[in-house]
Amino acid sequence: KHCFTKSEDGYLCCEGLRVEDVMNNIEKSPFYLYSKPQITRNFQAYRDALEGLDSIIGYAIKANNNLKILEHLSKLGCGAVLVSGNELRLALHAGFDPTRCIFNGNGKLLKELVLAAQGGVFVNVDSEFDLDNIISAARIAGKKVNLLLRINPDVDPQVHPYVATGNKNSKFGIRNEKLQWFLDAVKAHPNELKLVGAHCHLGSTITKVGIFWDAAVLMVNYIDQIRAQGFKIDYLNIGGGLGIDYYHTGAVLPSPRDLIDTSCRVLLNLTKCQVTSILKPILYLEVRELVLSRDLNLIIEPGRSLIANTCCLVNHVTGVKTNGTKKFIVIDGSMAELIRPSLYDAYQHIELVSPLSPGAGISIFDVVGPVCESADFLGKDRELPTPAPGAGLVVHDAGAYCMSMASTYNLKIAHLSTGLTLETTGPYGATPLRSEAIPAGANWVFALTQKD
Ligand code: LLP
Repeated sequence: KHCFTKSEDGYLCCEGLRVEDVMNNIEKSPFYLYSKPQITRNFQAYRDALEGLDSIIGYAIKANNNLKILEHLSKLGCGAVLVSGNELRLALHAGFDPTRCIFNGNGKLLKELVLAAQGGVFVNVDSEFDLDNIISAARIAGKKVNLLLRINPDVDPQVHPYVATGNKNSKFGIRNEKLQWFLDAVKAHPNELKLVGAHCHLGSTITKVGIFWDAAVLMVNYIDQIRAQGFKIDYLNIGGGLGIDYYHTGAVLPSPRDLIDTSCRVLLNLTKCQVTSILKPILYLEVRELVLSRDLNLIIEPGRSLIANTCCLVNHVTGVKTNGTKKFIVIDGSMAELIRPSLYDAYQHIELVSPLSPGAGISIFDVVGPVCESADFLGKDRELPTPAPGAGLVVHDAGAYCMSMASTYNLKIAHLSTGLTLETTGPYGATPLRSEAIPAGANWVFALTQKD
């Protein structure tokens, strides 16, 4: 079941409610329209896949930091993956359990690490200087830090280079040849550090489950090496990165269960090498039971696959024009609210919210916003009926990396420095959005992007 469906008479609906009706009830445009039940369903798919395993689903807050969404996920028992001190503050404010939070990043600041150490969140160490800062933070906080080594496994995720992170020449993680240095450094600081796991994150929008398998095999070898030196490793963290069907082709992409089963099969092989004869019969039981039996817990860090398909950016058509051989649909949304097409040449599916009169001819359009540069497009060469001014048009799968990457460009979204009153979700002023339930008592979350 998916939240966005077409009714028999051709209207786009969200959980059965016409998007056109929602537009008529909101005086501002564009806005992000979310389905709360879809967020629950996506989370449940991960939870079902992990049933029986001691594990942490760490939602990567960077994908969407809307406070309502964070509160909802934390209530469901989700953990959080953080990449800044502000994300950590927001996560705690939203009710996430700090012992199910993981602090990541290649440029963590000392003051951010102090917050993390005080909060008791897991920290993924990324470099030599990062380890120095983590040790200092532990001393300042007077608390031992639970540490995971972020390994750079040199696995090609086969995605856009801007979202690939696990290749050996990327800025992230620790390469093989440095592993021993880190293990020695951890051993030398027993009062500050407790090494509890190994982490990797290959990249984002990954659509082949075999890529996770390759990484998991490598990671398990690393864990073997680390354990051989007397460390008690409890966690394998395989990161996030699962892709979604942006093209709406109905293609069968790996599901959360595929991802988990891949990782679990690797854990099972590791067990095979290590278990004693007493444990051998267990090898033939459920994979999950086996993983449980060998004392290695799984952490995953999904962002996009939890949140992307729960939301559309809803826009009004301002007008239609032709230049040279090109036809354009100009809408009120833009690269300021949804930058992925401009930044990564990403495809996000576009459609009109209401059926048009039979006379409206179909053409090939670029869908563009009002922003003052030609990078401002939401879709290129899309076959669409010619809409009238005022028609509703949605860009699908806008739940991940759209609102959180929105910019103040052209002041479509008002900036703090203008002195204008901002619409905010959180207490930190980081999110120029407002979010509340509509209609009263119904299962909706929406966020507005623009000032009047
Ligand atoms: N863990 C780490 C360490 C990460 O760096 C990321 C994303 C995630 C987890 C979550 O990955 P996901 O499951 O969402 O793929 N702005 C880009 C995506 C950048 C992803 C950055 N890291 C986009 O719009 O496609």
